[in-house]
Amino acid sequence: MMDWKDALSTIVTDPNARLRFGEPLSKHTHFGIGGEAEAYIEVSTIDELTALAHFHSKWDVPVAVIGRGSNLLVSDKGFKGICVKLIGELAELEVDGNVITVGAGHPLPSLSKLMSKSGLSGVEFALGIPGAVGGALIMNAGAWGSSFGDVVTDVTVMDETGELVKLTHDEANFEYRNSGLNAYFCIVGATLTLQPGDVDTITTLMNGLFKQKTTTQPFVEENAGCMFKNPPGDSAGRLIDICGLKGHRIGGAEVSTVHGNFILNLDNATASDVLDLVAYIQNDVKEKTGISLQTEVKRLGFD
Ligand code: EPU
Repeated sequence: MMDWKDALSTIVTDPNARLRFGEPLSKHTHFGIGGEAEAYIEVSTIDELTALAHFHSKWDVPVAVIGRGSNLLVSDKGFKGICVKLIGELAELEVDGNVITVGAGHPLPSLSKLMSKSGLSGVEFALGIPGAVGGALIMNAGAWGSSFGDVVTDVTVMDETGELVKLTHDEANFEYRNSGLNAYFCIVGATLTLQPGDVDTITTLMNGLFKQKTTTQPFVEENAGCMFKNPPGDSAGRLIDICGLKGHRIGGAEVSTVHGNFILNLDNATASDVLDLVAYIQNDVKEKTGISLQTEVKRLGFD
């Protein structure tokens, strides 16, 4: 009898290269933390993604698209389900004048660099954000006063039945570090409208913002970007800083001494170390400032 693992291996053309069982997710997250996924699959076409949606309705095994794993904390127990990475056709980018069609699997730094070379302005802020376009859409990723949703004209998603749905910018419901896109089976890609400009001016701005990031935020040690959302009108990093929490350590996880809103995996930190540190920070900041910090980093595999 065919089980779900056999069924999964019929979805991609070369399962030996693109499907693995018992895959350590620490290899696929910037945090370098996390147990195993029951399965890990690289999906490269719309047809394969449709087949995966059909598989999902039939077998009822949890599916999580992990993008580039840059804003993700995976449980030490791993994920009882299938982790998906979008590659190939689903990570392509096409330029037509100032209109860009980009697949959800495309990395943001690559998008930023390609646009600067094409003399197109609007994503200079994204060079220092290591995620994929899909994650940037779901999270409405941003920095230096810009957010990804600002340049998005429409978003293509796949629903649970495997149908493609095109959403307008407004239907995507972009908010600060959030959107309505979580409701769908998978983000497929987006159309962006950028502003034509001068290659040198755009490149200088992009490199300047990247420099600003590397001087104000940690970038060598493993981390998942900002751990907490900023409370209205303030900076979580500043609050953590004034509470004296920079450098506070639990197990292998430590609050960055460069920017208070980053937790670093300095020495084989576990997901429990990170969550213990998150709780410690939340309690301390609440006690000293009255403000409740909410986490921004996505979680996978927790009950
Ligand atoms: N500050 C401190 N101590 C710290 C950190 C910050 O005093 O440890 C102060 C800074 O000196 C500054 C203010 O707080 O006066 C704001 O700091 P910063 O400019 O670094 O911005 P932020 O509000 O802490 C936000 C985003 C970042 C983004 C930067 C740059 C959130 C949660 N964070 O941080 O995004 O890169 O602005 O635009 O919205 C992310 O979302 O993962 C992320 C890193």
